[in-house]
Amino acid sequence: MAKQRADLIIEHIGELATCAGPADGVRDADLRRLETIQDGAIAVRDGLIAAVGRTDRVAGAYDAAERIEARGQLVSPGLVDSHSHLVHAGSRHDEWEYKVTGGEAAPGLQGGIHRSVGWTREADDATLAAHAHADLDEMAAHGTTTLEAKTGYGLDRENELRLLRITAGLQHPIEVIPTFLGAHVPPKEYLDKTDVYVDQVIEMLPDAAKLAAYCDVCCDPIGFTRPQCRRIGERAHDLGMAIRVHSDQTGDYEGALLAAELAAASADHADYTTDEGFAAMAKAGTAAVLVPGVTYHMLEMTPALEDGVLGPAEKPFLPRMARRAIESGCIVALSTDYNPGSCPTLSLQTVMQAAARLYRLNYAEIWHMVTLNAAVSLGRGHDRGSLEPGKRADIVLWRVPEHGMVIHRFGTNLVDRVLIGGRTVVANGRRLNGSPAAPWQRPGQVRNAASSTIASTTTKAGSP
Ligand code: NIG
Ligand code: FE
Repeated sequence: MAKQRADLIIEHIGELATCAGPADGVRDADLRRLETIQDGAIAVRDGLIAAVGRTDRVAGAYDAAERIEARGQLVSPGLVDSHSHLVHAGSRHDEWEYKVTGGEAAPGLQGGIHRSVGWTREADDATLAAHAHADLDEMAAHGTTTLEAKTGYGLDRENELRLLRITAGLQHPIEVIPTFLGAHVPPKEYLDKTDVYVDQVIEMLPDAAKLAAYCDVCCDPIGFTRPQCRRIGERAHDLGMAIRVHSDQTGDYEGALLAAELAAASADHADYTTDEGFAAMAKAGTAAVLVPGVTYHMLEMTPALEDGVLGPAEKPFLPRMARRAIESGCIVALSTDYNPGSCPTLSLQTVMQAAARLYRLNYAEIWHMVTLNAAVSLGRGHDRGSLEPGKRADIVLWRVPEHGMVIHRFGTNLVDRVLIGGRTVVANGRRLNGSPAAPWQRPGQVRNAASSTIASTTTKAGSP
């Protein structure tokens, strides 16, 4: 029988982890089973996966001009990062050091999210886009092939819509899915009149809906109340946007119940989510997107330290939260929550490694949670997230032979090659034809790309 045509065959794969599962995701006990094929092969045609199986079967049925031998290598689907705050300016490493050592930060270093908002408002479009492109290159080099990206560092009409335009305009092989997060935290100017700001967010929605697939709301003690979030979510829903929720990160604000009520695509963080909250989410089809990189970076499971005195960890219960989320029957995914404060990592590998060490998840669970389940939380379970015929050829070739090694090892990039839509975009762990490195601004200062000048911001007190 004549062989069928393919553009590319990846063959003699040491271990092929397909991460296959139902198009609506992998749940509960099924998370512990990961499909792997020894001496596997993938045929790629027109950017899609044409066949997956053992090498003898696939190579017997397909011919291709290009062949890649992946002996001794793990091959997996591209990783899907379903929660990031990609577009922002500046770094808050200076104030974080005080958290590490348990001392009190100088007044100028205490701004948290509002410091990032100040720098982001000051930065011009070209600077923000240059940083975002450089970050996307780095994410791709670490195996990410699809990314959700939120606004949230503008916090006024002009800047929130500007960040959304920049996000929607990014040109990169990683598909960037834009989310409007005008309701991230109350802006400094509205701390005592948060309802007025909520009204403004609602007024931004018709324009936001033209650019964003999702509207996110932060239903949390540091964000907005359940009724405030409901007002925003219902209007967004009427405008055709799907909903995501930052929920219950710093306390139970019934964010999970709100997410279920709005039939949200996901409720993220979920640190303080109750069993009732997870049950409601499972029923509503709302995914739980967990962020162990935040737990790690914010030292939430290490002993507290104040004035040299050790105290109990803030959130020792998070492994139980993760297990309750799984056992509720929710779709559970893992994401970076990449942002300049609570989680400055671009690497889903780091998040996978933290998920095992902090949340006590096993290898198979973690792989499903950064592939198919993450894709499902973004409404993309039908076309990506696993290596199955008909899906996009988003494929990672690793420098280790088995899936467990990506989690057991830590701290170095284990990616060899990344294909997005069948095209190689990363080789030898490096992005091919990537963007130029974007220079970092010093804390308290913004370097605008157009002028190359450095302008001091109003929040520079205490900065070097
Ligand atoms: O998802 N509401 C929470 N916001 C972010 C933190 C952002 C920051 O620290 O800059 C989060 O963890
Ligand atoms: Fe976040």
